Amino acid sequence: MGRAPVLLAFLLHLLFLLGRVRCAAAAAAAAALGCSSPPSTDGVCARLIRPLGYPCSEHTIETEDGYLLSVQHIPHGRRALGKTSGPPVFLQHGLFQGGDTWFMNSVEESLGFILADSGFDVWVGNVRGTRWSYGHVTLSENDKAFWDWSWQELAQYDLLAMIGYVYSTTNSKIFYVGHSQGTIMALAAFTMPNVVRMIESAALLCPISYLDHISSSFVLRAVGLHLDQLLLTIGIHQLNFRSDMGIQILDSVCDGHMDCNNLLAAITGENCCFNVSRIDYYLEYEPHPSSTKNLNHLFQMIRSGTFAKYDHGWLQNVIHYGHLHPPAFDLAKIPDSLPIWMGYGGSDALADVADVRRTINELRSKPELLYIDKYGHIDFIMSVKAKDDVYGNLIRFFRSQGWSSSY
Ligand SMILES: *[C@@H]1O[C@H](CO)[C@@H](O)[C@H](O)[C@H]1NC(C)=O
Repeated sequence: MGRAPVLLAFLLHLLFLLGRVRCAAAAAAAAALGCSSPPSTDGVCARLIRPLGYPCSEHTIETEDGYLLSVQHIPHGRRALGKTSGPPVFLQHGLFQGGDTWFMNSVEESLGFILADSGFDVWVGNVRGTRWSYGHVTLSENDKAFWDWSWQELAQYDLLAMIGYVYSTTNSKIFYVGHSQGTIMALAAFTMPNVVRMIESAALLCPISYLDHISSSFVLRAVGLHLDQLLLTIGIHQLNFRSDMGIQILDSVCDGHMDCNNLLAAITGENCCFNVSRIDYYLEYEPHPSSTKNLNHLFQMIRSGTFAKYDHGWLQNVIHYGHLHPPAFDLAKIPDSLPIWMGYGGSDALADVADVRRTINELRSKPELLYIDKYGHIDFIMSVKAKDDVYGNLIRFFRSQGWSSSY
């Protein structure tokens, strides 16, 4: 079958769904979580961290372009530490995830808790559009303009604002941990001197800058269907897979063409050590919304094999960048004085080993590497064995950067 009829059928299907969803707009809106900023009594601290015996405070940070982001602060672990506070570590989640992602397993298994109990001063980022960072000084989530951004803005505005806040509050350089999109943001932002000067060293889980070897069957089919462009064309700017619309979009991509019984594996690759009996609990929090433009930018990377700014099309590129093509982020601009550690997996269908190698080759200093053959994309944050497999190694790396502690 030719591509055009498939695309047409797909577009009609989406338009049909859009009509249905509009009719059920009120119900869908009520069902979609994260439609308003959570009160401080209902944030990550109150739900996930304080109940387990950890100190935690919520902070609101405004970006240069007016988004209101929430950041959580866990100053120490369950044991009180007296006067000394450890060095700040900042955790940056991935796409369709939020700061909750670092606290979803038990206190012995989750990186956020483990770092606090290891003596770090833990700070947790939440990017715009997630359930925890849904505010803006003038826009609401119903405005198209609220969703007019991609990971480029997450790097330029969100990361700069959150890291700047932690840096000035703690008066200390920061240990950075990012997963997936949190590594794209970091690698883009670290090419900018105003961000990297605040970073002590960085641990990148499932590092992504290039995406053209991606093997995820679900993502490749969505790219082939031009899902990103179709959604933008029909005016869907928010991607929320908790809404009826979002669920129907997933269904349309799966629709008899692949085994989506295990949707997580179809998207991220086989995860060896995922706790299946905890799925209902994970689903209380994730997935979080993101923007269709962000998906569009990621799909541009898959199509073009570049790590570059958003492609607006030739004419708009000339207006935005003064060139026909969007400028690339130059990984060689990341100073070789910045120590980097990377953890990546052989079963990861998103951060493919070939793409990770290309990233490593373009960096000026060679990062420390931890390769785990059987690990998929989600294992690096959710594996029930990640403490032994990954986090011990990561913490040892941070400690080797001049910070020794008795904890
Ligand atoms: C998996 O999740 C269940 C349900 O929350 C929990 O009881 C169990 O301890 C978890 N298993 C591991 C190995 O963490």
